[in-house]
Amino acid sequence: MTSLKGKIITVVGSGLIGRSWAMVFLSGGYKVKIYDNEPGQASGAITEIRKQIEELQRAKMLRGNLTAAQQLSLLSSHDDLQQALEGAFFVQECVFEDLEAKHSVFHEVENLVTESVILSSSTSCLMPSNVFSCVQNRTRCIISHPVNPPYYVRLVELVPHPETLPAVMDVAYSLMTDVGQAPVRLSKEIDGFALNRVQYAIIAESWRLVQDGVISVKDIDLVMSEGLGMRYAFIGPIETMHLNAPEGMEDYLQRYTEGMKRVLNTFGPVPDFSGEPAARIVKEICELIPAEQQHLTVRRERRDQLLMELAKLKK
Ligand code: NAI
Repeated sequence: MTSLKGKIITVVGSGLIGRSWAMVFLSGGYKVKIYDNEPGQASGAITEIRKQIEELQRAKMLRGNLTAAQQLSLLSSHDDLQQALEGAFFVQECVFEDLEAKHSVFHEVENLVTESVILSSSTSCLMPSNVFSCVQNRTRCIISHPVNPPYYVRLVELVPHPETLPAVMDVAYSLMTDVGQAPVRLSKEIDGFALNRVQYAIIAESWRLVQDGVISVKDIDLVMSEGLGMRYAFIGPIETMHLNAPEGMEDYLQRYTEGMKRVLNTFGPVPDFSGEPAARIVKEICELIPAEQQHLTVRRERRDQLLMELAKLKK
């Protein structure tokens, strides 16, 4: 595959995720053009990105081989979509999670770029066949779903439209690898992709256990943060099975299949997430972390700081 280095990527939408993608692409040496349809928003994003990149350099956490100044010299903001798309080989859409907004963006973008330009969406939970239904040539469409905050959490789920060409998946995969993300490929679209399906399974069982009075909110969160999460930062559930029996996976299946199936058969229905159980769970978590902005901000900053340290460790 020819080198993608130094090529232009257009980021459409300069909110939380658009700004993060821009920083990730800059760290890999790509030229990034940011567009937002809210006047002044894209230039505001540049100010914010500059601040963050300079802080990261000071904290010795800047990604990539380029200095902060070198990375910032690759960045520009545009209030005109056509200008923003000029020369791009890859468009990363990051507008509101709203199907109509995505349709209008991709319709506009498709009319302004050549057939070879890859159209990629950041959507967290819309299906590719819906997101790209207004695009004429869907063979170059793909979802590249990041995890927040993408600068520290490197996973990107690549989800094809049923018509996406394998070569388009390959380019997206190479690009994500090149900028230091950790891409995974889904072979076909599925609601929730992989990450949210697993996440929702964990949320559902945690919710049921608290709802049924088996465990407190504080303790179920500790089951993850001090238990499963400790190893899941480094090895996944399948490798965990493989390592947890003396002779590997087949041994694990022989030893634990019956128990797993017995427990799995006791799982309850999908929770309602409403009514008295929801009120109780909201009260419990708010006693631990009040829902006022100052408390949430402190916890978010702690989360990001710890993720930064973990990212260092994983490197
Ligand atoms: P946001 O609300 O922070 O930013 C959206 C930006 O898009 C705003 O700056 C807005 O002015 C701009 N915009 C809206 N319509 C536009 C249009 N037609 N043309 C150009 N710009 C337009 O949203 P956020 O959180 O950055 O999310 C963006 C996408 O990323 C969504 O699809 C979301 O589901 C996905 N995502 C979000 C994650 C998160 O944790 N926030 C994680 C993974 C994916």
